[in-house]
Amino acid sequence: MEFEALCKQRYTERYFSPNVEISDRQLQDLFQKVILGPSAFNLQHWQFIVVREQEAKKELSEIAYYQPQVKDCSAVVAVCGNLLAFRDARCIHATDPESIRDKFTDMVEKIYENEAGLQRDEAIRSASLAGMSLMYAAADKNWASAPLIGFDADKLAAKLCLQKTMIPVMLVLLGKPKPGHTNRRGYRKSLSEVLHFETYKS
Ligand SMILES: Cc1cc2nc3c(=O)[nH]c(=O)nc-3n(C[C@H](O)[C@H](O)[C@H](O)COP(=O)(O)O)c2cc1C
Repeated sequence: MEFEALCKQRYTERYFSPNVEISDRQLQDLFQKVILGPSAFNLQHWQFIVVREQEAKKELSEIAYYQPQVKDCSAVVAVCGNLLAFRDARCIHATDPESIRDKFTDMVEKIYENEAGLQRDEAIRSASLAGMSLMYAAADKNWASAPLIGFDADKLAAKLCLQKTMIPVMLVLLGKPKPGHTNRRGYRKSLSEVLHFETYKS
């Protein structure tokens, strides 16, 4: 689909048709595109956990303060961010000459080691971009989607067996819209309110 049409087509679906299946293959096709996205120092902080079992989705819906779309969608994707992604620097540069690999690894480790705030910011930034890519990849294949952060993060982490170094950044729901509901895109601020050239003008 052409990109402008894709942007206009995507919206946050809140009413999914229950019992619509999305296969491993369809998901893999979406994620093949998602992993082409950018990340700080190419550290690829993202991890994706797909939940499709009905009972598990029901539990996630409760963790998401009973938002019903979580149990009705075809797949709940927990987009997670790895706080220690910087430790993968060496393997990301495994095929580079040793001098470049060593220089890069030292630099990345110096930047992130002992910087909990920065580790968290980068994990959230890179995983969020992946979440957006997933929603566009889904729209391109005629799947509706919904980003969602209304959940109890501790309960979600426990349910998904996340280690302390892996944070749940957002849920992205995928599925087909329920017939009979019309979704209207929310109000958007005008360009003149959000776009500035050269410096910020209030
Ligand atoms: C970070 C983030 C968190 C969100 N959390 C929720 C949520 O918990 N529940 C929900 O119904 N929508 C959630 N949304 C969807 C927004 O409400 C929606 O994107 C916004 O109203 C604009 O509508 P549109 O996506 O249809 O253009 C979230 C969106 C973002 C980006």
